[in-house]
Amino acid sequence: MNLYLAFFSLTLMQGKLEGNAMQKDTEPRKEEDPLSIPLIDVGGAPLVAMLDTSSMNVRIKSFIKTLMATMLEDSQRKQIQNIVMETLTKDSTTDLIKNITIQELNEELVSDVKTSIPFREQMENIVMETLKQNSSIELIRNIAVQEIMTRNQSGEEIIGDSNQDVQIEKISRPFGVTETIGKTFYLGFLESYGKYGDLYLYIVSSSDGSCQLCIPSTGINTTFSVLSTRVKSFKISPDVCLDHHGIQRKAVFVKCDIPVSVYGLTYLSDEVDGFLALPYEVFGQDYMVTSFTLKTPRNTPHSNSNFGIIAISKSTNITITFRMSGGIINYKATRYGNDDILNITLVRFETFYLSHDYDLSGTLITASSPVAVMSGVRTSYLRNGYGNHMEEMIIPNEHLGRDFIVPKLYDSQCNFRIFALEQTRVRTYNNSSVVYINIQSRRFKEYENYDLYTLQSSVPVQVQLYCNGASTKYDAFMATLPSIQHFKSSYKFPVVNDFKYTDRPQHFYLTIIIQSYAKAGLRLDSKEISNYKGTSTVTLESTLYSVITVELSVGLHEIQQNNDIPFGLIVFGRNKYSGYGFPAGFSVNIKP
Ligand SMILES: *[C@@H]1O[C@H](CO)[C@@H](O)[C@H](O)[C@H]1NC(C)=O
Ligand SMILES: *[C@@H]1O[C@H](CO)[C@@H](O)[C@H](O)[C@H]1NC(C)=O
Ligand SMILES: *[C@@H]1O[C@H](CO)[C@@H](O)[C@H](O)[C@H]1NC(C)=O
Ligand SMILES: *[C@@H]1O[C@H](CO)[C@@H](O)[C@H](O)[C@H]1NC(C)=O
Ligand SMILES: *[C@@H]1O[C@H](CO)[C@@H](O)[C@H](O)[C@H]1NC(C)=O
Ligand SMILES: *[C@@H]1O[C@H](CO)[C@@H](O)[C@H](O)[C@H]1NC(C)=O
Ligand SMILES: *[C@@H]1O[C@H](CO)[C@@H](O)[C@H](O)[C@H]1NC(C)=O
Ligand SMILES: *[C@@H]1O[C@H](CO)[C@@H](O)[C@H](O)[C@H]1NC(C)=O
Repeated sequence: MNLYLAFFSLTLMQGKLEGNAMQKDTEPRKEEDPLSIPLIDVGGAPLVAMLDTSSMNVRIKSFIKTLMATMLEDSQRKQIQNIVMETLTKDSTTDLIKNITIQELNEELVSDVKTSIPFREQMENIVMETLKQNSSIELIRNIAVQEIMTRNQSGEEIIGDSNQDVQIEKISRPFGVTETIGKTFYLGFLESYGKYGDLYLYIVSSSDGSCQLCIPSTGINTTFSVLSTRVKSFKISPDVCLDHHGIQRKAVFVKCDIPVSVYGLTYLSDEVDGFLALPYEVFGQDYMVTSFTLKTPRNTPHSNSNFGIIAISKSTNITITFRMSGGIINYKATRYGNDDILNITLVRFETFYLSHDYDLSGTLITASSPVAVMSGVRTSYLRNGYGNHMEEMIIPNEHLGRDFIVPKLYDSQCNFRIFALEQTRVRTYNNSSVVYINIQSRRFKEYENYDLYTLQSSVPVQVQLYCNGASTKYDAFMATLPSIQHFKSSYKFPVVNDFKYTDRPQHFYLTIIIQSYAKAGLRLDSKEISNYKGTSTVTLESTLYSVITVELSVGLHEIQQNNDIPFGLIVFGRNKYSGYGFPAGFSVNIKP
């Protein structure tokens, strides 16, 4: 990538200098900082993604290796090295890249090589052709990259399943060592259509131990044991739902003496969804509400977009900055509209709930100490006019990721939304077209009925899936999509079935997102996976990924990759009228 960048910059600058020397100082200033726009290689990674210092070195190194291995003759290397050095000294904005590139090149390149004219000419032609068309750096780079891609087809040619050495190096490292497994959890359940049914907590662990469950609103304060061999399920009254606007005391508190994963499920009538509970350590002070409503709000009191805040400290001041697609929220005799601010103070176990006919996505929550945030839709009419509950525990802003493989879930119709906290530029690829999109701060971009996408965002974003069955109409759920940075190499998770109505057929699935070559190393319940329901592949950053679906039975399951290659995991299940989906777990980076 850097090699291309360097080459383009060089040619570009020469063109400018020759054409109009006066422009040199002024024109580049008007354009975006090259470091802030995606510059892609044949495999397609935005440059900004590479500037993430945590993953930078491994990516650049492997890119150069890839390039060396697949594209360049020995004889071309020295020349390119020279071009890179020469170019970079001329352009101060690429200082950082220069440093890294030179360092990496020195490591990777062998000296004593000859020059190669064809390669250089090919590149120059591309750039000169493009220069004629538009002087915007951004456009030129896009076109140039497209040219390269056309000439050399997709990145899959660069690295295939067989080329494992390079792929192993190219793994996006997970954010950190800490996971969504923990000992202390605070959570809440958001209001659904009605209250006919139950709420459930499911707890899984890798060792035996005991947990305390405390729900102040119902007077529950009990201790129970958890076994590594079973899913511990706990039925909770629907009265625990956050169901009135404003402050209530509806927190659910779980504290265990061993690390556990906790999942929450709402089974109220046919309105069902589930979520992964984040442990206390993962909570943050800044969140963005993500929800789902139809473009045209329905004239029904139940289709609300909603969110809930759960306080865990003695006293927390919280500022809510509303974003709403329409309407006004009345709270305590005050009217709140778009961009209005509401300040509240919550004490431990208190919750704050709001819902609205219009979409609240993009509403910001800023707290003086860490809180938990749930968000979703009371009853969503995703497709065909039937209500579905949607609910997730939201990842705090500080733990969001940037690179995603967006799977279409098996036997499903899905939408997804990319929610931007700050303005971002996203490279999207759907296995046939690369399209760059800009998303403004606190806005989202929605895709309907897609098949498969890869996303590379210049800044962290939240991605939510909204899926219902392809053959059934009323079973939609919402699931937070783990970014590649969130992938883990093993998960222990429950597949559950406490639907209020046991309508058939019922199916339970696992969607695995993994680098294709690492697929063979997966072990589900200690066995090789032989019976895939479906697989599809897509390339991200020259790496071939597979999206695999496996059908599962109800119960406790464990999946791992033998070589500790991280992968993403979404669990979903549905019967005729109801469905749930949730991510099985995340890897996150906890500050010491
Ligand atoms: C690049 O390296 C030079 C010299 O080692 C250093 O002064 C400069 O700060 C570095 N630039 C960046 C952006 O890292
Ligand atoms: C160059 O690109 C910019 C931004 O995409 C566009 O607004 C402009 O019309 C283009 N100019 C030409 C000559 O194509
Ligand atoms: C470009 O195409 C050539 C010829 O098909 C192939 O050998 C080479 O690996 C390709 N390079 C890239 C970077 O795709
Ligand atoms: C719950 O019970 C434990 C002891 O079992 C006690 O320490 C704690 O204060 C109780 N919590 C509440 C909120 O009642
Ligand atoms: C919360 O706000 C109140 C009133 O503005 C202030 O007195 C208090 O110090 C704040 N507490 C925290 C924890 O920020
Ligand atoms: C809300 O709280 C923030 C931060 O404490 C403060 O800056 C702002 O003035 C408050 N706004 C209102 C409307 O009370
Ligand atoms: C990919 O996106 C392009 C442009 O939006 C669209 O024309 C094409 O049909 C899509 N292809 C697939 C496989 O979804
Ligand atoms: C993406 O394209 C590759 C190569 O054309 C193909 O093998 C793969 O099945 C496609 N994936 C999807 C999801 O269409």
